[in-house]
Amino acid sequence: MDLDLSGHVAVVTGGASGIGRACVDAFEREGCRVAIWDRNGPGKVDVSSAESVAEALRETESRLGPVRHLVHAAAMGSGKFGFPFLNLAAGDWSRVLEVNIMGMLHVAQALAPGMMERRMGTMVFIGSVAGQIGSQTDPPYSASKAANINFAQCLAKDLAGYGVRVNTVNPGMVKTPLNQAVWQAWHDQQPEALRRTYEEWAAEKIKAVAPLARWQEPAEIADMVAFLSSSRASAVTGQTINVDGGQVMHW
Ligand SMILES: NC(=O)c1ccc[n+]([C@@H]2O[C@H](COP(=O)([O-])OP(=O)(O)OC[C@H]3O[C@@H](n4cnc5c(N)ncnc54)[C@H](O)[C@@H]3O)[C@@H](O)[C@H]2O)c1
Repeated sequence: MDLDLSGHVAVVTGGASGIGRACVDAFEREGCRVAIWDRNGPGKVDVSSAESVAEALRETESRLGPVRHLVHAAAMGSGKFGFPFLNLAAGDWSRVLEVNIMGMLHVAQALAPGMMERRMGTMVFIGSVAGQIGSQTDPPYSASKAANINFAQCLAKDLAGYGVRVNTVNPGMVKTPLNQAVWQAWHDQQPEALRRTYEEWAAEKIKAVAPLARWQEPAEIADMVAFLSSSRASAVTGQTINVDGGQVMHW
């Protein structure tokens, strides 16, 4: 399927690792020029800082030209096991909300005006099944991902009249450093006898939660992101699409 993305400029936040990295690869394969905005990337962009994001946009547009597509994948967890939620202090929430919610706002505030002016553009936000099912492993992460899904819908309504489409893709379980940190937080507070390696924990968990009973690959998430960013999805906006092996089913 020709996605007709060749020559377009795309920004991928969180593009230095995991799902974001796979999105960079997918857009480059389609012939896009891609800027990575990541605190571990070349420009050391921190999405929780509006100044850092504004500077990244200036640098990207002077180097590559106007940005046509955004993929926002940068996010973090608290690094703590939050079940029950009283295991976490209020202070454990702050940085997660700052990066995951305010980061999304900073990126949207930076990119929306140019897309509105040009009357074209797409945004895909990476949410999570955790934002739909109240996952008990990391409450601030879950709450922030619900906020991502909801704010993407607000944006979709605001920007539709300007020809800008906004969608959310929710992965379920993908083996990345972020996911491994969830296992680590669980592992570290288990008694010796109940501990599992990451691979053992992952194998048990995926069978329990996903009908397809296997982990998703970063490239499978990226394929959906590329499709939603393309003119092949020209009638799709404000949607939350799960690429999760059937973990959450809509009706
Ligand atoms: N891995 C999963 O199972 C899973 C499931 C559901 C949703 N997700 C979502 O997928 C997205 C990507 O996560 P991943 O699993 O690929 O994790 P990852 O840890 O591999 O990648 C996250 C990237 O975000 C970057 N980042 C974090 N904070 C940043 C900041 N303040 N500024 C700029 N960059 C920052 C990191 O440096 C990293 O490169 C996230 O939004 C996550 O919530 C992941």
